[in-house]
Amino acid sequence: AAYQVGMVVGSLRQDSFNLKLAKALAKLFPSEIEISFVDISQLPLYNQDLDNQPTETVSTFKQAVAALQGVVFVTPEHNRSISAALKNALDHGSRPYGKSVWAGKVAGVIGTSPGAIATAVAQQHLRNIVAALDMPTVNQPEAFVQWTDDLMDAEGVFNKRSAAFLQQWVHAYVALLKQQAA
Ligand code: FNR
Repeated sequence: AAYQVGMVVGSLRQDSFNLKLAKALAKLFPSEIEISFVDISQLPLYNQDLDNQPTETVSTFKQAVAALQGVVFVTPEHNRSISAALKNALDHGSRPYGKSVWAGKVAGVIGTSPGAIATAVAQQHLRNIVAALDMPTVNQPEAFVQWTDDLMDAEGVFNKRSAAFLQQWVHAYVALLKQQAA
């Protein structure tokens, strides 16, 4: 594939709605983009003392991100922000100072929750963070996906209305990815 894009899912739970969203979204990407899932579940809590002696888990994570051209963050909203797990992963990748693996990678920001405003606040927090990390980010369309039982079927295929909208979202992401890579 011409481009490597990583999905970073902010929820660690097995039946995560955000993991389901990420898997369903992955199917909407064109074949020239290879999607991988970046595991953040085994990362220790970030500790700056260990910047120069990272554990194997941390090194593997950073190498995986470093090899990507883009990252799609699929985040739950935990108490009106992103999950601690996602923030921890972002912090790990950002250090040591000057050696961030995030800089320049094209970011997509999306997430789902059953709530009426469906991760809108978490996504705004995440936009601040990815700006600080110097990640070019898709501004529009925004996707505040409310989780409902009919969002997708058991095979992870979106209902018609959501499929059309989320396909537009993917198109916008791919357009920015290609523009940045050119
Ligand atoms: C939540 N949930 C939640 N939902 C929301 O829309 N806004 C919020 O601020 C919060 N806060 C919150 C805090 C904590 C600690 C938990 C565990 C949950 C509900 C959340 O949207 C729901 O649990 C989703 O299922 C989480 O996403 P995953 O884990 O299914 O991907």
